[in-house]
Amino acid sequence: MSLLREANGPTTVIRREDYAAPAYWIDTVELSFDLDPAKTRVLNKMRLRRNTDVAAQALRLDGEELNLARVLVNGAGCSFKMEGHQLVLENLPEGDAPFDLEIFTTCEPDKNTQLMGLYVSQGTFFTQCEAEGFRRITYFLDRPDVMASYTVTLRADKKRYPVLLSNGNLVEEGVLPDGRHFAKWVDPHKKPCYLFALVAGQLVAREQRIVARNGNEHLLQVYVRPGDMDKTEHAMNSLIASVVWDEARFGLPLDLERFMIVATADFNMGAMENKGLNIFNTKYVLANSATATDTDFANIESVVGHEYFHNWTGNRITCRDWFQLSLKEGLTVFRDQEFSMDLCAEASARAVKRIEDVRVLRTAQFPEDAGPMAHPVRPDSYVEINNFYTVTIYEKGAEVVRMMQTLVGRAGFAAGMKLYFARHDGQAVTCDDFAQAMADANPQSDLARLLPQFKRWYSQAGTPHLHAEGVFDAATRSYTLTLTQRCDPSPAQPAKQPFVIPVALGLLDANGTELPLQLAHWGQPEAGTRTFVLTEASESFTFVNVDSEPVPSILRGFSAPVVLEVDYTDAQLLGLLAFDTDAFNRWEAGQRLALRLALNAIRTQGPVPNAPLDAAYLAAMRAVLRHPALDAAFKELVLTLPSESYIAEQLDVVDPQRIHAVREAMREQLAHGLHDDWVWAYEAHKDNGAYSPDPLGTGRRALAGMALTMLCLAARSNGNPVWPGKAYQRFKDAGNMTDRFNALSALVVSGQPLAPDALNRFHSMFRSEALVIDKWFALQAGAPDRSGNVLPAVRQLLVHPDFNLRNPNRARSVIFSYCSANPGGFHRADAAGYVFWSERVIELDGFNPQVAARLARALDRWKKLAEPYRSAAREAIARVAAKPDLSNDVREVVTRSLAD
Ligand code: PHE
Ligand code: ZN
Repeated sequence: MSLLREANGPTTVIRREDYAAPAYWIDTVELSFDLDPAKTRVLNKMRLRRNTDVAAQALRLDGEELNLARVLVNGAGCSFKMEGHQLVLENLPEGDAPFDLEIFTTCEPDKNTQLMGLYVSQGTFFTQCEAEGFRRITYFLDRPDVMASYTVTLRADKKRYPVLLSNGNLVEEGVLPDGRHFAKWVDPHKKPCYLFALVAGQLVAREQRIVARNGNEHLLQVYVRPGDMDKTEHAMNSLIASVVWDEARFGLPLDLERFMIVATADFNMGAMENKGLNIFNTKYVLANSATATDTDFANIESVVGHEYFHNWTGNRITCRDWFQLSLKEGLTVFRDQEFSMDLCAEASARAVKRIEDVRVLRTAQFPEDAGPMAHPVRPDSYVEINNFYTVTIYEKGAEVVRMMQTLVGRAGFAAGMKLYFARHDGQAVTCDDFAQAMADANPQSDLARLLPQFKRWYSQAGTPHLHAEGVFDAATRSYTLTLTQRCDPSPAQPAKQPFVIPVALGLLDANGTELPLQLAHWGQPEAGTRTFVLTEASESFTFVNVDSEPVPSILRGFSAPVVLEVDYTDAQLLGLLAFDTDAFNRWEAGQRLALRLALNAIRTQGPVPNAPLDAAYLAAMRAVLRHPALDAAFKELVLTLPSESYIAEQLDVVDPQRIHAVREAMREQLAHGLHDDWVWAYEAHKDNGAYSPDPLGTGRRALAGMALTMLCLAARSNGNPVWPGKAYQRFKDAGNMTDRFNALSALVVSGQPLAPDALNRFHSMFRSEALVIDKWFALQAGAPDRSGNVLPAVRQLLVHPDFNLRNPNRARSVIFSYCSANPGGFHRADAAGYVFWSERVIELDGFNPQVAARLARALDRWKKLAEPYRSAAREAIARVAAKPDLSNDVREVVTRSLAD
C-alpha cells in the first residue's frame, strides 16, 4: 500500500488571507475512463485560458497517487516538471486565446483505502471528490472557484458493470468489443470539480417521474444493490418531499432532467451532493420497518433533504475557497432543519425537532468551541481541510443563518435568498456575499443596521456566555432585566468583541401566566414572545406595568447559540417546566433542574449519593410523564437526563467516573421513584398497530422504549424478573426494528441475564443486514460500564468475524461508540481505554486518515480531566504524535491537542 506522504516535509498551513484567484480558467473538460479496478485509465482533455486578471505565470495542476503517461498542449508534446504533488507547465501559449491540454494518467481504484477519489466498494466503482479528491483522479486545478462544463465517457466490462453513471444527462450509450460497453454523460451546468462523480457497477434503481410546478418532467432514481430495493421507498419519498419543499418555500426548482441517489456501504461521511448524482452512505438511504429505527427514518429524511438542497446552496452557488465551507454547509443544514420542521404537522413536533437540534449543538459543538480544535465558522487557517468538516461549520453555521432569519423575519429571509441567487447564481462566493445579500434585501432590519458586528459570528470562535439578572421594583411596578455577554479566549483569539445576540423573551407571572411585555417607551403592551437584540457587553431592559416579580423565559426557542446563565430558584424552574408557553424553555427548565442535582452530587465529597434527585424533581417528572396534553416525544426528551458529556462541559475539572456513577444513580432513582408511572407509560404507549415513522408514532415508541428501559433498570436492583421477561418477549415479537431494538437495548443497558441470549438471537436474525449488525456492535460498545466490563467486550468485538476495520460504518460502530460515546467505559483509571484509542488511531491512519483524524478527536477535552485521567490521556496523545509518518489529518489534530 502506498500512501504518498511528504517525507518529513514541513506541514503547510493554508491561510484565508492568502487567497488568490486562479491563474487559469478551465472552461470545458472531457473525461474518458477505462474502468478497471487494478488500473483505470483516465484521459482528460481540457480547454483552458489564462485569467487575465492576474499576472502571467506557470500552470500548476494538483495530482495525487497518479501515474502520468502523457501531456499534450494543442495536440503536441510539451515540457513539464513535477513539484511535490503538482504538475507544472511553464511554456504554455502566450496571450488570452484558449488552448487544449490533454493529460493521460492511470490510477489503482482497488488500492484506494482512503475512499477519496476513485475507489471500489463491493465490486462497484464510486468517487468522492470533496474536498480535494478530484486530484486523485486526474491532474486539475482542484479548487472550488474553477467551474467547468463536463462531458464524461465511461467504458467498462458490461457484465460486471452494467450501470454506468455520471453527472447530468445520458446522451449516448452502446456496446464495445470484448464484452465492454460505454455511456456518455453531459452535465448541462458548470461545476467545480469537487462535485464530479461517477458510479459503475451492478445496481438497480427505484424510479419515480415527477412533474414540477412549471410543467417540467423529472426522473428521480435511487440506486442500490440488487436485494436492497425493498429499503428504498422512504428515501424516494424523502427526495420527492425535498423537491416539493424547496420549490414551495424558496421558489427553487429542480434544474435537472434526472436526479440520482446511489448508496454505498463504504463511505467516510454521511452523503455527498455531487451534481445530479448524489452518493450516499447506505446508512442514510436504506430503511424499512424491519431493519431501520425511527431515528434512521428521520435521519434519512434530513440527509436526503440536505444533499438535495445543496443543489442550489452549494452547487449553483458554490464556495470561493474552503474557508467559506459554512457558506454552503451552515445554510444547507439550516435548510434541512427547516424542511424537517415544515414536514411536522403539529407545533409540538416542530419543538421536538428544535430541541433535538440544540441538543446536538450543545453536546458536540460547544465542547469543540471550548477545546483545542476551536475555530470560527469561517476559519482563518487550516492544515488539512478534511479536519474542518466540523459541527462548528455545520451546526453553528446553521445557527448563524437561523439568527439572520430571526433578525429579518421569515419573509425577509426568503427575500434575502432571492437576492442571493439573483446576484450570485453560477458563481463561487464568500460568506460575506451571503450576509450582504440578506442585509441588502432587508435594509430596515436589525441585520442591515448591525451587519459588521453581526459578522463577528463568522470571525470569532468560542461560545458566548450570556448572563441574565432580573430586578423587580414593586414601587415603580417595573422589572429590569440586565443581559451581559462574555466570550472566553480560543486558539489564536485572546480577546473577543461583543456579538449581536437576538434574545427571544417572555415573562411569566407567579401563576405561570404569560405577561404582556411593555418597555418604558412603548405606548402599548405586546403579547407573546418578543426578540431583543443585545449588541453591547451589557444592556438593561426595563419592563413597566409589572405587578409582581415575574419569571423570565429567556432565549426562547434557543434564539442564539450561547450558554445562558440565570440564577433561577428551583421554584422558578419548576414553574417554567409546568407553564412556559415556549416548549423549548419548558424542556430547558427540566434540564436545568436535573443538571443542578447532578452537579450537587458530583461536587459533594465522599461516596456517590444513591439518591441524588429530590422529591420535587421526581414529582415534576411524574407530572410531565402523566400529563394529559403533552405529546410522548416531548415527554421522552424531558425525562432524558442531560448526557454525561454535557454534564462534563459544566465542570472545570472532570472526573468521568464520578459523572457516570451519579448519572446512573439518578437513572436508578427515576426508575424506582416513578415505577408505577413507567408501568402506565409502557402500557399506554406500546404497540399502535401498523408502523409509520411519523412524529406521533415515533414519540410513542420512544416513550414506551424509555419506560421499558426504566422498568428493566428497576428490576436489576429489586431482582424481579417480570419486566426483563416482558422485554425479552417484546424483543422477540416486535413488529418493527424500533420496538425490537429498544427492547434489546433495555435488556443490555440494564445488564440483564437475558441480554446475551437476546444479543445472539438478534445477530442470527439479521446477520445479512450490515446496517443492523452495525447497531448490534454499537449497542455493546456503548453499554453502561459495570466495573470495567466494556473494554474487554470491545476488544472481543474487534476479533468478531463480522468486524471489518476497513469499513467506516463498522469501525465507527465499535470504536467510536466506545471512545466517543461511552465516557464511563472509556475513561478508565488504568488508562487502558486511552491505550486502546491510541492503537486504533494509529492503525486507522495507516489506510484511512480521515476516519483516523475523527477518532483522534475523542480526547479533545483531555485538559479538563482530573488525575489520573489527565496525565494518562496526554501520554496517549503524545504516543500518537510521536509516530513519525502520521497523516496531515491526524498530525493536525494531535498537535493542536497538545499545544498550550
Ligand atoms: N458535503 C457533504 C455534505 O455535507 C459532506 C461531505 C464532505 C461528504 C466531504 C464527503 C466528503 O453534505
Ligand atoms: Zn452538506
